Amino acid sequence: MPPFPTTRMRRLRRTPTLRRLVAETRLSVDDLVAPLFVADGLEDPRPIPSLPGVMQHTLDSLSKEAARLAALGVPGVILFGLPRPEQKDAVGSQAFASDGIVQRGLAVVRDQVGDSMVVMADCCLDEFTDHGHCGVINPLTGDVDNDGTLPLYAQVAVSQAGAGADVVAPSGMMDGQVGAIRAALDSSGLVDTAVMAYAAKYASALYGPFRDAVDVTIADGGDRRGYQQDARNRREALAEVALDIAEGADLVMVKPALTYLDIIADVRAAVSVPVAAYHVSGEYAMVCAAAERGWIDGPAVALEQISAVKRAGADVILTYFAGQLAEALGG
Ligand code: PBG
Repeated sequence: MPPFPTTRMRRLRRTPTLRRLVAETRLSVDDLVAPLFVADGLEDPRPIPSLPGVMQHTLDSLSKEAARLAALGVPGVILFGLPRPEQKDAVGSQAFASDGIVQRGLAVVRDQVGDSMVVMADCCLDEFTDHGHCGVINPLTGDVDNDGTLPLYAQVAVSQAGAGADVVAPSGMMDGQVGAIRAALDSSGLVDTAVMAYAAKYASALYGPFRDAVDVTIADGGDRRGYQQDARNRREALAEVALDIAEGADLVMVKPALTYLDIIADVRAAVSVPVAAYHVSGEYAMVCAAAERGWIDGPAVALEQISAVKRAGADVILTYFAGQLAEALGG
């Protein structure tokens, strides 16, 4: 048999330098946003067992971690807060208190990194409500009250922007949340604060470690399937994204990332705004757990997964691997 002719693809795969030159996807530290947790009333940073290497921070350790990430060239952080447990209430009032933990966290991070980082805040109530839902509960139905929640989100966003957030990121999947927040920011003169909408957010089983991280349990064994998207649906993601953009979203997010690469690709093709993807806690924890057992090469899998998220079309990637990847990729 005559030799099969070498293909162009094969020739361009021969050396690391050739592969580097022709790579279609170039993951860079510029793509990354690191999620950070700050807890009220903590003496020392506390490791989160289901998120190895991730901490609940004190204000002091938060500021140091932001400085470390900035020095590595990571361009963004997104802040989540844990109030003191006894401060949780039915409406999540610590989420919009001017001296709330997120507001104080934003101030110290801004103070530490100036404009060298984009400082984002997750805008939701679940970490602050005593029932663990993302909105207030209608006492008549026992369901989350969509419209009753919107004014609270507006207050959260205004107070986060006032505390120094460049970007507020509503994650509660209430209908109309982006419009309510944009209107409140504008009428408070906070016209430069951007909104990154968790636009296509699925009711996923991959948020488990996050709920450990923020100490959230949904009351009565409840779930978020009434307001987050159904994993079986693809088309409705585009409808959710279109609504959020019409309401004024500056960036739109798909979440989780790996189980929704088709959605990321669809959204990237459909819109002109930057598309973010959130590689969530469960996705991170699975890699860490398998690596810990020696079953996979953790750093290699992390790079492969986050590269896939970028290849699918994400312009911005929120990941607990941000610091590690920044070290691996070089600033
Ligand atoms: C809601 C929120 C959640 C996450 C980010 N924002 C949890 C939820 O919807 O239950 C999950 C992030 C992760 O798993 O890494 N405030």
